[in-house]
Amino acid sequence: MGSGENWLWWRDGVLYQIYPRSFMDANGDGVGDLEGIRRRLGHLVSLGVDGVWLSPVFPSPMKDFGYDVADYCDIDPLFGTLGDFDRLVGEARDEGLRMILDWVPAHTSDEHPWFLDSRSSRTSPRKDWYFWRDPGRGGVPPNNWSSAFGGPAWEWDEATEQYYLHSHLKEQPDLNWRNPELVRAMHDTLRFWLERGVGGFRIDVIHRMLKDPGLRDNPEIPGVSGPGGQKHIHDENHPDVHAALRGIRTLLDGYDERMAVGEVYIFDPAEVAKYYGKGDELHLAFNFCFLRSRWDAAAFRHEVERFEAVVPEEGWPTLVLSNHDVPRHASRYDHPEWGESRARVAAMMLLTLRGTPFLYYGEEIGMRNTPIPEDRVKDPIARTLHPAVGRDPERTPMQWEPDPSAGFTDGEPWLPIGPDAVRRNVALQERDRTSLLWLYRELIALRRRTPALHRGRYETIDSADGVFAYERRSGESVARVALNFSEEPREADLGPGGVMAGLRTHRGTPLPERCGRVLLGPSEGIVLALV
Ligand code: GLC
Repeated sequence: MGSGENWLWWRDGVLYQIYPRSFMDANGDGVGDLEGIRRRLGHLVSLGVDGVWLSPVFPSPMKDFGYDVADYCDIDPLFGTLGDFDRLVGEARDEGLRMILDWVPAHTSDEHPWFLDSRSSRTSPRKDWYFWRDPGRGGVPPNNWSSAFGGPAWEWDEATEQYYLHSHLKEQPDLNWRNPELVRAMHDTLRFWLERGVGGFRIDVIHRMLKDPGLRDNPEIPGVSGPGGQKHIHDENHPDVHAALRGIRTLLDGYDERMAVGEVYIFDPAEVAKYYGKGDELHLAFNFCFLRSRWDAAAFRHEVERFEAVVPEEGWPTLVLSNHDVPRHASRYDHPEWGESRARVAAMMLLTLRGTPFLYYGEEIGMRNTPIPEDRVKDPIARTLHPAVGRDPERTPMQWEPDPSAGFTDGEPWLPIGPDAVRRNVALQERDRTSLLWLYRELIALRRRTPALHRGRYETIDSADGVFAYERRSGESVARVALNFSEEPREADLGPGGVMAGLRTHRGTPLPERCGRVLLGPSEGIVLALV
C-alpha cells in the first residue's frame, strides 16, 4: 500500500493494534480469533493502515491473557493454528498490510517448559535462565523489589526451597537475559516468525528485560504503598538493556524491512529516547506521555516538544493515545457536550504529528470504555491491585454491527459488549460520510499523499490560548495544523500560502482558499496542505 519512492511502511505509514480476543470471533466461542481477523481485513484496508500489531496469540494459560507465554513458536488453539496464521499473514501482505507480533522477552508463563525444567531441581541446566535465589535471613525474599502488579516480586517455591523473581504475576517468572543460552533461545523465536514473514515485533516491558546484576534493593519512597512505593532504579531501565537490544537489532537487520517497537514504560522522554541507540536499537520506542496528558493544548504541545527535543537524528517518534492497558482516550477526554468533537480533534492530532501513529482497535469509531459488572471481571490486576485499575473496560469486543452481539460473535462474548454498540458501530459509520470513521480514513489518506505529513519536520506555531498549532515540512511539501482544545471559537494565524487540500474535523464548513488567519469553532481542528 506504499505511496511514492522510499516509502517505509512502519515509519511513513499508520499502524493499528488488535487485541485478538476482542476483534472478531469466527468460531462462536465468544473469543476473537485469527480467522475472525482475516475476515475483517477489509476494514483495515479501507481504513488505510499499513501494519497490524497483534497482542499475543501464542499458547498461554491466559493468566495475563497471553502476556504469559508457554511457547513462543506456536499459536494458542483459542486463536487458531499456525496454518491460520500463515494464511492471515499472506492475505494481509497481499493487501499491503504487515503483521507485527507481540514478543514478551522479560518473562514466560510458569507453564513454559523452560520454567518447568528450571524449577524441577536446584541443578537443572536451565536454572540460570530465570532468577532463583535463596531466602534472606529469617526466610525473607532476596530483596525488596515489588511486582508491577502488586505485592513482592518474589515467589517461594516449596520444592526447591528457593524464591524466583516475577516482575508481574507470580505466573510470569522473569527471564535472565544475562544467560547466553537463554539469549540464543529467544533469538531463535524471533527467527521463527521472521522466516514466516512477519513485519516485526512489539517488544513487551522492554524496560524490565535487564536488572541490576547484584539485585540490590530499590530505595523506598516513605509513605507510599504498592508498586509505586519504591524507586525502581535496580529492576527497571538498567543500562545493560541497550546491549541486548543491539543484539536483537542486528538479528532484525538480517531481514528485509523488519522492525521492532518497544514498550518503554518510562515517563521521561530523554530515557525513552535512549532506546533508539544510535539507530542500532529500536526502530520505534513508545512514548506514553500522551496517555497521561490532560485535555489541554499546552499540555500536548509540551509533550510533543519534549520528545522532539530528544529523539535522535536516526530515530523516529511514535504517537499513541490508547492501548490495551489504559482507559480509551475517547473516555479519558469525554465530555457531555464536547466528547465527540474531542475524539475528532484527537484523531487529527495523532494523524498529523511527526511520528508513527498507533491506533487502538475501535478508536476509529470512538469506542468508549465499557463498564464491567463485578461478576464479569477478567483482568488479574483488577483483583491484585484494585478494581479501578482493571483493564477490561478498554478490551471489550469491537463494535461492528447494531445487533446485540455487535456483529462480534454468535456466542457469549468473553467480555460484555459496550452499551452504546447499537448506535456506535462500524456499519452505521460506514454509511455516514460525516462519521468519525470517515474522518480517520480521510486523515490517513491525506497523510499518505502529503509528504510533509508522513515524513516532514515538526515546528510549533505559537497560537492563542487553547490552540495547539504546528507546521510540518518536507522539501516542497508543507502542511499546517491548528487544533482548538477550548470550548470557545478561536482564531489561529497559520501564515501565508495557498491551500491545496485539507480537512476540518467538523464537516460542512468549507476549507479556506488561503492559509492566513483561520477561524476555528469550539473543539475544532483543521489541517491544510499548501501549494
Ligand atoms: C505489558 C503489557 C500488559 C501486560 C504486561 C505484563 O505491560 O502491555 O498488558 O500485562 O506487560 O506482561
